[in-house]
Amino acid sequence: MNAAPKPRLLFLLSGSIACYKACHAISRLTQAGIEVRTAATPAALRFVGATTLEGLTGSPVFSDVWAESRVMDHIHLARWADLAIVCPATANTLNRLGAGLADDPIGALFLAWEIQQKPWWVAPAMNHVMLAHPATQTSLTKLRAMGVRVLDAGNGALACGETGEGRLIEPESLILQVLAALGPKLA
Ligand SMILES: Cc1cc2nc3c(=O)[nH]c(=O)nc-3n(C[C@H](O)[C@H](O)[C@H](O)COP(=O)(O)O)c2cc1C
Repeated sequence: MNAAPKPRLLFLLSGSIACYKACHAISRLTQAGIEVRTAATPAALRFVGATTLEGLTGSPVFSDVWAESRVMDHIHLARWADLAIVCPATANTLNRLGAGLADDPIGALFLAWEIQQKPWWVAPAMNHVMLAHPATQTSLTKLRAMGVRVLDAGNGALACGETGEGRLIEPESLILQVLAALGPKLA
């Protein structure tokens, strides 16, 4: 008997110090039986290495829309996945997605994503003032209106030393929510 196909998760990292927490979540979700592929902005790869992401998932990270032999990955990966999550989602990436810009891997994947058919989530992580800024809040409102699910950021100590809302959702909570969303497809 053929094994059921694994649920497919596209895990997208932008340049926050919380990228290390995302690696933990990727590891746990892979162990749970989910097939994970990653894309990362150049800034994200200054926080975690492409080798780490490939080692965790068994697949190379999509990080350059111009990379040789991967020029259509923004379409192929968008068709391949059941769920996409931007985690961590920086202020910059949220504002770029809200504006519909497609000149980096995450932006191109977002515009190629069939947003009415498949879920696209974002998990903001940033300084509390950056999160509260009207530019960021306007983008979040626009993204919600497009059908994006915005996961609540946590409140507490931030990497910058300040305190407030903007911590990345706790990885355990994120893992549980992804498992609940993809659970019916898990063997
Ligand atoms: C140490 C360090 C930590 C950072 N953490 C965050 C963060 O948590 N959230 C955020 O929005 N930006 C953060 N930034 C700024 C982003 O990396 C910067 O805006 C970058 O251009 C984001 O690019 P991207 O959205 O294309 O990944 C941080 C920068 C540095 C140097």
